[in-house]
Amino acid sequence: MQKNNVFSGTAGARMYDTEGKIIQAHGGQIQKFTVDGKERWYWIGEDKTDGYRPCGGIHLYSSKDLFEWKDEGIILKTLDHIEEFETSYFKEIYGTLTQQEKEILFTDLDKHNCVIERPKMIYNKKTNKYILWFHADGRCQGSDGDYGKAKAGVAVSDSLTAPFRLFGTYKLNYHNDPNGDFGFDGWAKRGSVRDMNLFQDKDGAAYIIYSSEGNRTTYISKLNDEYTALAKDPDKAVEGEDFTRNFIGNFKEAHAMFQYQNKYYLIQSGCTGWAANPASYAVADHPMGPWKDMGDPCKDSGRETTYDSQSTCVIPLDEEKGWYIYMGDRWNEKDLGDSRYVWLPIEFLPENKIALPRKQNWTFS
Ligand code: DGJ
Repeated sequence: MQKNNVFSGTAGARMYDTEGKIIQAHGGQIQKFTVDGKERWYWIGEDKTDGYRPCGGIHLYSSKDLFEWKDEGIILKTLDHIEEFETSYFKEIYGTLTQQEKEILFTDLDKHNCVIERPKMIYNKKTNKYILWFHADGRCQGSDGDYGKAKAGVAVSDSLTAPFRLFGTYKLNYHNDPNGDFGFDGWAKRGSVRDMNLFQDKDGAAYIIYSSEGNRTTYISKLNDEYTALAKDPDKAVEGEDFTRNFIGNFKEAHAMFQYQNKYYLIQSGCTGWAANPASYAVADHPMGPWKDMGDPCKDSGRETTYDSQSTCVIPLDEEKGWYIYMGDRWNEKDLGDSRYVWLPIEFLPENKIALPRKQNWTFS
């Protein structure tokens, strides 16, 4: 197979792994880890081999150069039926759970009903564990809709490539005002989580960024020291301290936060389902804000659809050189498994501005 040495960018060419299979890592994230002394890029994302459903779980790939990707398998597997918990693979992970606990987890891992989107991973130095967070949704008791559950899932593993164990799925922070505008979630479904991402700061603090209140508002909440839960229980958390509400009523999704030269940047999309819309970005001095809206980062034709893409992550390749890659998904609603990946260089401009150019077959030089 011919090896690529350029990013196809807005051309959105299909991407294949080293075995020639289409890469299934949508709504994903790429970061560098050193495992057994070997430094590699690791890409996790939604496996959409079978389209929207059956839900394929979370797929991992590794690479030395961001061009050649090795399939490392599914790191969070879904189940076909509840009895599958008794097979050796799942027994190894969930064998100690009670039947009732398995039934609860099954609603989050049932491939015929669950939704697992926008998985993001961080490594915790103190506990030496990898922690996965994702948007956990799907049909469940009391809700036939795909996005009525609106929770965050947390899974943990001692090894990057080993099976992750799902702890559970949770509602997160909420604005403590029963008369507030919680959009289509309403007060009864406060704490909702849909599109989400993580951000790990250089000081070790980590945050979850997510759409809440019926997608109207972007929440940024501090995680605990282990990164396995919120820093403070939602019923005790203080708005402005433990979490912030941002872009209130502005309907944003596809959050991608990164840091460059002591400023924090947040690229987002609007909310139009699988259809692409214009991006926006904001700048702050702290991951929890306050955020200054900076408008649309796209500078070339095709801005109205972010060059037919939706943000999912920014890869900080080399901060000194200012090499950062915008990673977007070009969703194909009719064939989600054939959705493409649009990667673009971020240009840093004076006054903390950034720009996303329309580029094809590009690389840093
Ligand atoms: C837009 C989100 O960004 C995607 O992750 C997915 O949830 C779609 N909406 C579903 O319509």
